Amino acid sequence: MYETLSTELTENIYTITINRPDKLNALNTTVIRELGEAVQEVYDNELIGAAIITGSGTKAFAAGADIRGFTGLSKEEGMALAKQGLGVFFKIENASKPIVAAVNGFALGGGCELAMACHFRICSETAQFGQPEISLGLIPGYGGTQRLTRYIGRGHALEAMLSGNLISAPMALQYGLVNHITSQEELLNKTKSVLRIIISKAPLAIARCIAAVNAVAGNMDGYALETKLFGECFATEDMKEGTAAFLEKRKAIFRGR
Ligand code: COA
Repeated sequence: MYETLSTELTENIYTITINRPDKLNALNTTVIRELGEAVQEVYDNELIGAAIITGSGTKAFAAGADIRGFTGLSKEEGMALAKQGLGVFFKIENASKPIVAAVNGFALGGGCELAMACHFRICSETAQFGQPEISLGLIPGYGGTQRLTRYIGRGHALEAMLSGNLISAPMALQYGLVNHITSQEELLNKTKSVLRIIISKAPLAIARCIAAVNAVAGNMDGYALETKLFGECFATEDMKEGTAAFLEKRKAIFRGR
């Protein structure tokens, strides 16, 4: 179905794998476009409760935007390239269902930015993160200057972006850039086990929680949005079911209504 991605839906978890292992899963314009389409499926398909983005092979999640595609671009074309990636990454960040990066190796440049656009990250021991664009005479263009700074702080982010030095998996854990480190073999199992717990919860509350948390990075008043979304939960069947199940000492059955 896709030229550069393989996808699989099992147990309501949609796994999207970037499939260019010979190019270390570099993000050319086809990958970016197809990621947008696959994420649209996450939005539209009611059978999908959560998604994973990962890379094929054992070496790379994605080693960056495809440097071959940069040759001969004008200033305007450079901006258009950035806008295409940024738009798809916003779509990931603003999805109402959790989209998690399972980082199986190099996550560099656009690959690091893709992982950061996901709701959270789990990585293998071999993973390495970084924004090495400076070595190409460039800066991050898919939101890296903003998200890396937010996630690991201005000092660590600037050191990484200005030196191009990579961030190892243990350092990423220490910085809070990833939630868990696993072996390469266990990476997808671990990610799915975290997502299975999440998708057993109330879908409308999950969506509102993501929206409220995302407000931290926006211009709106996050407290006001949280108050509004909290109130809206009271109008859902799931909230009535969740509270009734607690009081009746039974497991809640959420229907996303
Ligand atoms: N864009 C396009 N092609 C890339 C790529 C990228 N970002 N990253 C890797 N590749 C390609 C290489 O050109 C090579 O292709 P080839 O076999 O046709 O020559 C293939 O993937 C394997 O990469 P290679 O560099 O040989 O692997 P390595 O193990 O020696 O080094 C890296 C791995 C990740 C350190 C190195 O590939 C690298 O520095 N990549 C670029 C990272 C980067 O600057 N990303 C930000 C881009 S904005």
